[in-house]
Amino acid sequence: MTAPDTEFKIPFSRQDDSLPTTPLTREMYTSPEWHQRDLERVFMRRWLFAGHASQISRPGEFFTFELGDDSVIVSRTSSGELSAFHNVCRHRGTRLCEERSGQAKNFRCPFHGWSYGLDGSLKLAPKMPAEFDKKQFPLKRVWLEEWEGLIFLNLSPEQPTRSVAESLATIDLSAYQLPRTKVIADVVYEIESNWKIAGETFQECYHCAITHPELCRIIEPMTDLEEWEEAGTADASGEADYLIWTPDIGPGMRAGARTFSHDGQFVSKRLLGSGETEPPCAALSWFPHLGFFVQPDYAVTTSWLPASPTTSLFRSTWVVHEDAVEGVDYDVDNVIHLIDVTNEEDKELCRLVQLGVNSSGFDNSAPYQPQLEAPVRGFLRSYLDHVDADRTHILGGNR
Ligand code: FES
Ligand SMILES: [Fe+2]
Repeated sequence: MTAPDTEFKIPFSRQDDSLPTTPLTREMYTSPEWHQRDLERVFMRRWLFAGHASQISRPGEFFTFELGDDSVIVSRTSSGELSAFHNVCRHRGTRLCEERSGQAKNFRCPFHGWSYGLDGSLKLAPKMPAEFDKKQFPLKRVWLEEWEGLIFLNLSPEQPTRSVAESLATIDLSAYQLPRTKVIADVVYEIESNWKIAGETFQECYHCAITHPELCRIIEPMTDLEEWEEAGTADASGEADYLIWTPDIGPGMRAGARTFSHDGQFVSKRLLGSGETEPPCAALSWFPHLGFFVQPDYAVTTSWLPASPTTSLFRSTWVVHEDAVEGVDYDVDNVIHLIDVTNEEDKELCRLVQLGVNSSGFDNSAPYQPQLEAPVRGFLRSYLDHVDADRTHILGGNR
C-alpha cells in the first residue's frame, strides 16, 4: 500500500464544518486514486463492523474479513476469547486461510507448515534452528472490540483514539439483549457502484416512495426528520463521527406497523429481549459503513465495503432471539423478505447512479434536498473530514 498523498486537495470549495450541499465530483466516485485514498484514510482508520459474535460462538470457529489487499482472521480461542489477526504467515507472507468461515484447531501455512494457534501464537516452525524464538513471530494482531454482540475491527497500526463503546456511549440497546441472538441469514449483494454511492443511498429515504413500494406499506417515506438536518455533527473532541441514532422510528411508520416485514406484523414470535416487553423499532447509522435496524422481533446489520473504484459489497445479516425455533417461531424467508427486496431495489439504483456519474454528462452542481437528504450530507461531511489533507490533524493521525 502506498503512502497517502498529503498534497492532494478536495476538488471543490467547502466551509469548515458546513454540511455539503451537493454530491462529490465524478473523480471521487470513479478514480483508482480516490479508491486507494478512501481505503487508507477512511477504512484503515475506522472501527469496521465485521460480523456477529454469535457467528463464532464455539472455540475454534472463525471467519475472515476482507478489505482491499487485507484479510483478517477473526477466531474464538479455546478459552472463549475473540481474537483477530492478519491472515499473513510471518515466515514469507503466505495467505494462511482462504475459507470464508469454518472451524479450526490451528492455522497451518500451506507453504512450509508453520502453524499458529487460535490466538495467533506461532506453535510450530518445522526444522527452524534451536535459537529461533517462536514467541517473536505471532500473527500480527488487529484491534478488535465486541459491542452489543457485534464484532468491530480496526486495521490502524496505532491504537485507536476511541473505543467503539466510547463512540456509541449514547446508544442504549440493552432492552433487545442483542448478545443473546443468533444469525439466521447473511447475504452479500455485489453492487455496481462506488461504496460512497451505496452508503449515500442507504442514508436517505427521499427515493423510497418511488423505488420501494413494499417498504412504503410500512413506513411514511416523506417524514420530515428536521433534527437530521445537522446530521452527524463533529463532536466536541473534534473527531469527525457521523452517527445517527433513532431510538424509536415509530413516528415514521404507518399506523399498525410493528416491525419491518411484508405486512408490518412480527415475523419471529420470540421477541428480542426478555420477551415480556415490546421494545421499539430503532435505527443506527455510523460512518463509514454500518446501518443497523433493531426491531422488536429481529435485527439486521447492513454494511458496505469498497471492492474497486466502481464496485462495492453490501452485506445484510439478520438475527433473531437465540431461543427462537425455525419453522415454529420464524421462517427465514419471511424475516429477511422486506429488507432483502429493499436491498435489491437499492442495488439497481446504485448501478444506475454509477452509470450516470461515469458519464461526461455528470456534474455535481445540483443541490441536495436540504432536509430529506440531510443524512447523506452528514455522511459526506464525515467523509470529507477524513480525506481532507488539511484536516487530518483533527483525526489524531500523522499519516
Ligand atoms: S511462508 Fe508460511 S511457512 Fe513459509
Ligand atoms: Fe433505498
